[in-house]
Amino acid sequence: MSKNSVKPLVEVENLKKHFDINTGFLSTKPLKAVDDVSFSINKGETLGLVGESGCGKTTVGRTLLHLYKPTGGRIWYDGREIRTKEDISYLRRKASMVFQDPYSSLNPRMTVSDIIGEPLDVQKKYTNKNERRDRILELMNYVGLNSEHASRYAHEFSGGQRQRIGIARALAVDPELLVCDEPVSALDVSIQAQVINMFVELQEKLGLTYLFIAHDILVVRHISDSIAVMYLGKMVELSDADEIYNRPLHPYSKSLLSAVPIPDPKTARERKRIVLSGDIPSPLNAPSGCPFRTRCPYATEECATSMPQFEEVSKGHYVACHRVNEIN
Ligand SMILES: Nc1ncnc2c1ncn2[C@@H]1O[C@H](COP(=O)(O)OP(=O)(O)O)[C@@H](O)[C@H]1O
Ligand code: SF4
Ligand SMILES: [Mg+2]
Repeated sequence: MSKNSVKPLVEVENLKKHFDINTGFLSTKPLKAVDDVSFSINKGETLGLVGESGCGKTTVGRTLLHLYKPTGGRIWYDGREIRTKEDISYLRRKASMVFQDPYSSLNPRMTVSDIIGEPLDVQKKYTNKNERRDRILELMNYVGLNSEHASRYAHEFSGGQRQRIGIARALAVDPELLVCDEPVSALDVSIQAQVINMFVELQEKLGLTYLFIAHDILVVRHISDSIAVMYLGKMVELSDADEIYNRPLHPYSKSLLSAVPIPDPKTARERKRIVLSGDIPSPLNAPSGCPFRTRCPYATEECATSMPQFEEVSKGHYVACHRVNEIN
């Protein structure tokens, strides 16, 4: 497909999700888990969403699917704005989620067949028992499980196989969009690549669109068409995957990538190493101005007083940094 004929399946504008946190007797404070995040995902493509633990990735995924009610912002799915109950149930028929932890997200006392069959039952996706069974076997086949696995229990499987069961379950409703929330983070490194390759194959076969979340930018590099980097509830950079990998512009993206070994010596020379000091601040006490300023080697006074806008610095490449032109 040429890039020009690709249409966005998902569009998100200024999405916000704030949680009210109790800070004392009758007093609450908003925790800005997601604050003014905008992105779109083209049909059949993958947006990789990366950032340290606690930066708001899961909340983006869940709010996008209206599993959390957005505090603000707008969401469109295939051109339809999602506002009413009807819109939300329309969205739920089109999209599903793969969870991070294949150990806690599957009921160990259910058989594989019932785990995968449950969403079929809920959405009445079959007319008789044979149809149900055939569909379950088809789904198992998609993820590399065979019919002998159907009557076994989830606890009998390894992490990688459990994640395959979770993926088959997410596919049961025949979704167009999958929100994959760190689907390989809990797996052994040795099987992460197998599971990622399976996601790639499923995308090709079923024409799926992915929001693919990971804390490690390396994990999403090969599966992603675009990559978005989050920090403390904000999106700090968004661009084509190769572009961000070879030429990250935001100091935080640079720091994520400076931990990654680079085979090409020219790129390695151009990419300055940035090692972050200190921990990510609590989103309940986010710094004034740029959220990254307490860890940024380039921070100036302006960074403490004003929030940088998320701006397009070259075609399709967005960055939120006051000094993006000076430091690159
Ligand atoms: N249901 C919730 N109630 C209150 N705070 C939450 C809730 N879910 C997430 N948070 C907070 O929102 C921030 C972002 O969390 P999360 O989206 O899970 O980040 P990530 O997936 O990037 O690790 C964290 O500070 C987390 O503690
Ligand atoms: S705005 Fe300032 S503190 Fe924030 S990333 Fe840019 S230089 Fe660093
Ligand atoms: Mg998460």
